[in-house]
Amino acid sequence: MPVAKQAEISPAEGKLGVLLVGLGAVSTTFIAGVEAIKKGFAQPIGSLTQMGTIRLGKRTDNRVPLIKDFVPLAQLKDLVFGAWDIFPDSAYDAALNAGVLEKELLGQLKEPLRKIKPMKAVFDQTYVKRLSGTNVKTGKNKFELAQQLIAEIAEWKKKNRCSRLVMIWAASTEIFLKPHAVHKTLDSFEQAMRDNHKAIAPSMIYAYAALKSGIPFANGAPNLTVDIPALMTLADKNKLGICGKDFKTGQTLMKTIIAPGLKSRMLGLHGWYSTNILGNRDGEVLDDPDSFKTKEESKLSVLEYILQPEVYPTLYKDFSHVVRINYYPPRGDNKEGWDNIDIFGWLGYPMQIKIDFLCRDSILAAPLVLDLALFLDLAQRCGMKGVQEWLSFYFKSPQTAPGLYPEHDIFIQLMKLKNTLRHLRGEDLITHLGLEYYD
Ligand SMILES: NC(=O)c1ccc[n+]([C@@H]2O[C@H](COP(=O)([O-])OP(=O)(O)OC[C@H]3O[C@@H](n4cnc5c(N)ncnc54)[C@H](O)[C@@H]3O)[C@@H](O)[C@H]2O)c1
Repeated sequence: MPVAKQAEISPAEGKLGVLLVGLGAVSTTFIAGVEAIKKGFAQPIGSLTQMGTIRLGKRTDNRVPLIKDFVPLAQLKDLVFGAWDIFPDSAYDAALNAGVLEKELLGQLKEPLRKIKPMKAVFDQTYVKRLSGTNVKTGKNKFELAQQLIAEIAEWKKKNRCSRLVMIWAASTEIFLKPHAVHKTLDSFEQAMRDNHKAIAPSMIYAYAALKSGIPFANGAPNLTVDIPALMTLADKNKLGICGKDFKTGQTLMKTIIAPGLKSRMLGLHGWYSTNILGNRDGEVLDDPDSFKTKEESKLSVLEYILQPEVYPTLYKDFSHVVRINYYPPRGDNKEGWDNIDIFGWLGYPMQIKIDFLCRDSILAAPLVLDLALFLDLAQRCGMKGVQEWLSFYFKSPQTAPGLYPEHDIFIQLMKLKNTLRHLRGEDLITHLGLEYYD
């Protein structure tokens, strides 16, 4: 991802097409939200690109512009949405079905939402066992399906008069896949697509089609997808940004806020038990053990990396970390996440923290989709290619360069993101040393 200080940034001219794989709860809440904000019905709460500021220079300089005024981001009025889904429902019907936003609000957004009809999906039930749908492409093999996507993307771009595109995976979580030998090189990957190899999941076919079409790609689910050497090489070769995995919302967001605080005070941890009840389609998909395994891996890694038991064995060696998700239909998208945290302090005295987060999954995820679309597009216009680690802030399981451990601490992630923006604009990085105030 190297990029020069004060990089040349080409302007955000023309329309930016946001291609969403999956037109479910997260995607429709995102699209409807942008339309509502455009009409002045609501504020973009939760979006760093729209509401965040960035301090520049010294604390005494009083330079604190909005991020969107500091870097040239695409404007909301220039966003155009496209999607694929295995169900043919328009964004309006899919949003009603997801049940996240009130009917009254959706009624006011009917016109733009009705126009968004999902393209036929690349789907295989082997990878998402709990779903089956009819709006699905057919083809001789996975390579041919990828070619269909590539042709469709080119046509969509032309029809919607977009100057640039980004693609975001907001479709269901696929079953757990380990990296396979066929993922190693682009040649072996393409051959495996022709051979209909099991190691090539639908999400990889979309990512391949995006990267072949010159489109940066973000992965909002925990699937392996673009986190494989073949697709990382393709991204590098075509000078495109990629990032993932798994939007950081709900319980993991809380974990990456609280764990760094406990560690900063050198408080120990005996165990962290997390459980969720969730009743949306995502919850239904995650009720399948193979899909849950993918999610579990993504959720479990967070504490190990933040707490560093190998560096602080007295505090964090062998802590117990359990994560459960229970599908409970009455709750719909309004997830409840409980955490029981067993900590210990001075002289080893035990204490407990209980968190009961009554959250709304898609309300937390939607602004992340917006920020990722805008920042990935910015990265593209700055010539930033490959893994965009500065966007780790948005992910539960941040993708990094091979061999590099991910940074999970949300405060470090935010500092990294803002310093990247300062770097791009040729501003001094902020280290918080601040000795100059006491000279
Ligand atoms: N909401 C959150 O807070 C959150 C956080 C982190 C990750 N995620 C992930 O984001 C994804 C979307 O979540 P959601 O709540 O919108 O789920 P959802 O079930 O409401 O929507 C997913 C949609 O993807 C479609 N789909 C599945 N496979 C597809 C394919 N191969 N091609 C095209 N469409 C396909 C489904 O038909 C469904 O409509 C899930 O993987 C979820 O785990 C969500």
